[in-house]
Amino acid sequence: KSQPIEAVEVKTEAAKRVKIGIYFATWWALNVVFNIYNKKVLNAYPYPWLTSTLSLACGSLMMLISWATRIAETPKTDFEFWKTLFPVAVAHTIGHVAATVSMSKVAVSFTHIIKSGEPAFSVLVSRFLLGETFPPSVYLSLVPIIGGCALAAVTELNFNMIGFMGAMISNLAFVFRNIFSKKGMKGKSVSGMNYYACLSLLSLLILTPFAVAVEGPQMWAAGWQKALSEIGPQFVWWVAAQSIFYHLYNQVSYMSLDEISPLTFSIGNTMKRISVIVSSIIIFHTPVQPVNALGAAIAVLGTFLYSQAKA
Ligand code: 3PG
Repeated sequence: KSQPIEAVEVKTEAAKRVKIGIYFATWWALNVVFNIYNKKVLNAYPYPWLTSTLSLACGSLMMLISWATRIAETPKTDFEFWKTLFPVAVAHTIGHVAATVSMSKVAVSFTHIIKSGEPAFSVLVSRFLLGETFPPSVYLSLVPIIGGCALAAVTELNFNMIGFMGAMISNLAFVFRNIFSKKGMKGKSVSGMNYYACLSLLSLLILTPFAVAVEGPQMWAAGWQKALSEIGPQFVWWVAAQSIFYHLYNQVSYMSLDEISPLTFSIGNTMKRISVIVSSIIIFHTPVQPVNALGAAIAVLGTFLYSQAKA
């Protein structure tokens, strides 16, 4: 017996919600694991330029193998595709390395509190560089975002300027990455998964020479011996875990971007930060003062008000 059209629609809508729910939960879980291992590695081995290069290299390798073995379909790309991807990759590289440098200097929770201020950067860039205008409620929602981040920053017990600026630069770079990639993914024939794979490959090419120039093999080798002798062989697994989970969480987030609007995506991203902030404070026993936590809570609340205002 055939079902009425409305019933079928309700079912498809419910199935879509379940699918997005699974994407989100997977994305957040993978991200929490990445952040924990990334920080464990950086504590023992403070070379963020190398660890961010390794994350990209690992993801690129995983995807090249998946294409070669036909686990994933090889994307059909042309010169135009790579040309459009280039600015996205530059922004992705800067945002990634800046966040990793930040996390090498401050607590993971602090980096993510500042990164929860990303919507403020998005509005300011859209307003002043792209000439977009927003309703007053959107501008008003920036007050708790900026105020909350500022309160959390000034009351942070282990404040460090490089850590703070790294997170701010990452925010700015990721706003540009999102603006460029929205253009690049529009009407595209490449899936979210393959789009992120190509982004990793291109970012790896961009980042490698800079990582060699800033840190370089000599520092890496000496630090590696030290970390191995202090931590033991499991240090290698930590590096592998941070690299693999970095790729996986980004891949899942780009796959979900295929299904949802950029707005839903940014709400998901804020909720992801809450899970990272809370779990990293517990795991690393990060000291937090009540007023510091209040700043973080106001900033996060601000990003929710922002998403409501934009909706
Ligand atoms: C990175 O290393 O790229 C950052 O940790 C990523 O930050 P995100 O949470 O914005 O993806």
